[in-house]
Amino acid sequence: MISILITGGSGYIGRHTAKALREAGLEPVVLDNLTTGRLDETGFGPFIEGDIANVGLVRSILRQHEVTAVIHLAASAHVGDSMARPDAYYRNNVSGTAGLLEAMGAEGVTQLVFASSCSVYGNSASTAAHEDEPVIPMSPYGESKLVTERALPWYQLAFGLQWVALRYFNVAGAEDGMGEDVAGCRRIVPRTVHAAVGGGSALGVFGTEFGTPDGSAVRDYVHVSDVAEANLLALRYVEQGGHPSVMNIAAGMGVSVLQIIGEVGRQTGQAVPHELQAARAGDPGCAVADISRAKKLLGWEPKGSGLEAIVASVLHSNTLRGRLER
Ligand SMILES: NC(=O)c1ccc[n+]([C@@H]2O[C@H](COP(=O)([O-])OP(=O)(O)OC[C@H]3O[C@@H](n4cnc5c(N)ncnc54)[C@H](O)[C@@H]3O)[C@@H](O)[C@H]2O)c1
Repeated sequence: MISILITGGSGYIGRHTAKALREAGLEPVVLDNLTTGRLDETGFGPFIEGDIANVGLVRSILRQHEVTAVIHLAASAHVGDSMARPDAYYRNNVSGTAGLLEAMGAEGVTQLVFASSCSVYGNSASTAAHEDEPVIPMSPYGESKLVTERALPWYQLAFGLQWVALRYFNVAGAEDGMGEDVAGCRRIVPRTVHAAVGGGSALGVFGTEFGTPDGSAVRDYVHVSDVAEANLLALRYVEQGGHPSVMNIAAGMGVSVLQIIGEVGRQTGQAVPHELQAARAGDPGCAVADISRAKKLLGWEPKGSGLEAIVASVLHSNTLRGRLER
């Protein structure tokens, strides 16, 4: 069986990606230091607890499992957190990735799918951000992703790295109980559900005067299963010698925070307690993607990414995990 290393494979997107790979007949080998990942669903392939910055460890994994390609998801991944701790983001996302790439070069593993982010765009002036437009990140997190994207062509020159960088927009939803628990999760849909069912404090709506239709922040929410499929298709694209490229992965449509509150309220039958607050530093008002490139080059199509389906999948996942009575 062909082995693919998934760094950060115990995380939210990693768990869904490991499942997609396994279903496609590949062996996902997971490397994760469990800073935010959890162990309970790593049944899809071998699991190694460790850090991407540990070059010796990564080299031995690549050798031992005869890994042919890497899906690199491991990162510190919160905009707000990065504003307070830029050092941690440069260390983990930039230096850590350099360790991974060094190990890949040394072991002759030349295929990479890199998890980048819409945060590289900052406050895009366009209604649908395109991969070729100028990018000005507004946070150390976004900057750390951009630095890595910009490094990849140099590794391509140095040791023939074949790569794709996928700029995921706001990943949401869940499959088969593999999503995030509504309690303790920082992402908007689980937090909104938590507020609705009375388990948490009121939901903070950060920013009400953005130039968006209802004033609240607009994002492009893509279902995590669609992201897992994009990772798989990007892997095939790289394997088949596709031209290295940056690609947006999103639904291609904007949804506001107030619309999420409305949809969660409708599906739970509970009003969502929320408080209007000032916008947070590093948060743009609107981030929506042009997804034509990924559609064309990967043959990818977002299938489960509507707001209704995303909210339903979060409720279902948490019900399966016993986190919600329904
Ligand atoms: N979730 C989103 O909306 C979103 C959007 C854009 C980009 N991304 C990117 O997708 C990737 C996965 O995000 P996620 O939402 O699954 O986050 P997550 O926090 O659930 O997963 C990240 C995983 O990486 C692991 N990890 C972190 N640093 C590590 C290290 N040095 N060595 C080994 N493992 C390490 C964590 O333990 C965790 O399991 C990240 O690179 C993130 O920047 C996510």
